[in-house]
Amino acid sequence: MIVESVKFIKSSPKAKECPQTDIPEFTFIGRSNVGKSSLINMLAKKKIAKVSGNPGKTLLINHFLINNNWFLVDLPGYGYAKISKKEKRKIENIIVDYFKNRVNLSLTFVLIDIRHDPQLIDLDFINWLSNNNVNFKIIFTKADKLKTNQKEEKVKKYIKALIKKIKISPENIISSSKLKLGREEIMNLIYSEL
Ligand code: GTP
Ligand code: MG
Repeated sequence: MIVESVKFIKSSPKAKECPQTDIPEFTFIGRSNVGKSSLINMLAKKKIAKVSGNPGKTLLINHFLINNNWFLVDLPGYGYAKISKKEKRKIENIIVDYFKNRVNLSLTFVLIDIRHDPQLIDLDFINWLSNNNVNFKIIFTKADKLKTNQKEEKVKKYIKALIKKIKISPENIISSSKLKLGREEIMNLIYSEL
């Protein structure tokens, strides 16, 4: 899949202020520092999202128009420990409001760092998406950090936890922005929904 054009449209503090809703939208979300901006840049083949060693910085809903026919959306990361409760609640509200109100949302990608064991905050979020009928898939990030057999083990363990705790087994993709791994698979999923 060729990305012919990428246009930054706007940053919005809430769903109501997001751009026009007749364009299908694909959203990326995950814990702060999971590698979301790096993944978005890999997909766009361009540095459109800011990669930070300074987590928790995206506090707005960022819309990028790709090939003039779909939106790529960068949502704020959740679960960053070093911010106040008030700020955490603010991010949570942005996320909930977004998923409850974006009628043009086609597909959501939940990013999970492949190295980590299943964390309650992610399981709870995935459960919430599932309960709210959000169409989503999981992307495991930073796959370059593990060996092949470790990767498979981690993914298996994760899916097992999802089945056990929330009785779902979502489709998943293994990715690495460093090695440009998983791009075609993600783009094919997006294109199959357009
Ligand atoms: P915030 O927006 O700050 O919450 O973070 P983010 O989820 O957008 O993550 P970001 O892409 O900024 O990456 C966080 C850190 O992980 C950076 O130091 C990246 O260089 C690193 N990183 C991201 N993706 C990969 C990857 O695929 N492999 C490796 N080895 N490092 C990665
Ligand atoms: Mg980011």
